[in-house]
Amino acid sequence: MNSSNIDSRFLSQSLSITALPWPTDWSDIFGREAALLVEVGFGDSRFLVELAQHNPDKNILGLEISLPSLRKGERKVKRAGLTNVRFIQARAQAVLWTLCGPKCINALFINFPDPWPKPAHYRRRLINDRFLQLVATRMSTEGMIDIATDHFEYAEWISSCLERSSYFNSCLGSPYITSDDDRLRTKYEEKALAEGRTCYYFKWQRNRRRAPDDFFIPQESPMPHVVIQIPLSLAEISQRFRPNVFSTEKTSVNMIDLYQSIGRDSLVVDTYISEEPIEQRLLLAITRRETGDYLIHLHEVGFPRPTPGVHYALQCLTSWVCNLHEDANVISQSLRKRV
Ligand SMILES: C[S@@+](CC[C@H](N)C(=O)[O-])C[C@H]1O[C@@H](n2cnc3c(N)ncnc32)[C@H](O)[C@@H]1O
Repeated sequence: MNSSNIDSRFLSQSLSITALPWPTDWSDIFGREAALLVEVGFGDSRFLVELAQHNPDKNILGLEISLPSLRKGERKVKRAGLTNVRFIQARAQAVLWTLCGPKCINALFINFPDPWPKPAHYRRRLINDRFLQLVATRMSTEGMIDIATDHFEYAEWISSCLERSSYFNSCLGSPYITSDDDRLRTKYEEKALAEGRTCYYFKWQRNRRRAPDDFFIPQESPMPHVVIQIPLSLAEISQRFRPNVFSTEKTSVNMIDLYQSIGRDSLVVDTYISEEPIEQRLLLAITRRETGDYLIHLHEVGFPRPTPGVHYALQCLTSWVCNLHEDANVISQSLRKRV
């Protein structure tokens, strides 16, 4: 593999959804052009490692929300000496939406997704109509979607979603089968089979029907900042801080806590921003300048992306600070007009 052209940030096996380009050119990340196989929720990574070993000519991308699973996967891949695997710790929906361009996925494996059996939690299920539409936009024609579950009711749900979607055809003559001796097994599957539970296996193929792509990538604007004047000290501002949530129809901003910097004349606000399709945990900062005014800006920690949600968060922080004193006023700002 020729890695000389790869950006050094991408050489590690584990990648960050906010550090990668939206969308990402996977040949840059893997250092070669090859079919992309994606496993969602790889758990203990046993399936993923075997998949990579059986397919040295393919690029393998593992997606997981669990950090311990990611670390375990990294260790296993290193021990196995595999160079064709990359990991991202993020929700699969967000990765497909932001990082995967049209038709870039050649096969998608979803092994034993959490079934969320209570009706009140159905909305948390990974597989639903919208997710299949997203997959359909990101998958190449004839790409395979391979799903396994040991939960009968979820299996029926998945069947209905696939049949309704019209972008995939079953390769099995039925929505699913209940035994598949040829497949690589997962840890969860071994346990289910050992305990006598039936497993349901789906193998569906992307057809040629066009899937509308309304999964727009969040538009980034230059890093936002606001300059304000307010006759309050940093200590007075920090004393009045309370955790707070601000929301619009599409975005929610949770200001979790506030810290005072020892080294700098500034406060930082630990903030969680959720805007479809991504979440960012980042720091907003209020820095006192030599001129006596305050700069409200995005702290450089991590890889914050200046999305509309980040602009909205800065707008919320500015309004909150300005509401602390009637003489406060905004001197300049570079926020997006409509957030
Ligand atoms: C029941 S476990 C199955 C693990 C593994 N596939 C197996 O069969 O042994 C489901 C896994 O999916 C992961 N997961 C849940 N939702 C996810 C999402 N939206 N994106 C990526 N991974 C997810 C969980 O962290 C968990 O590791």
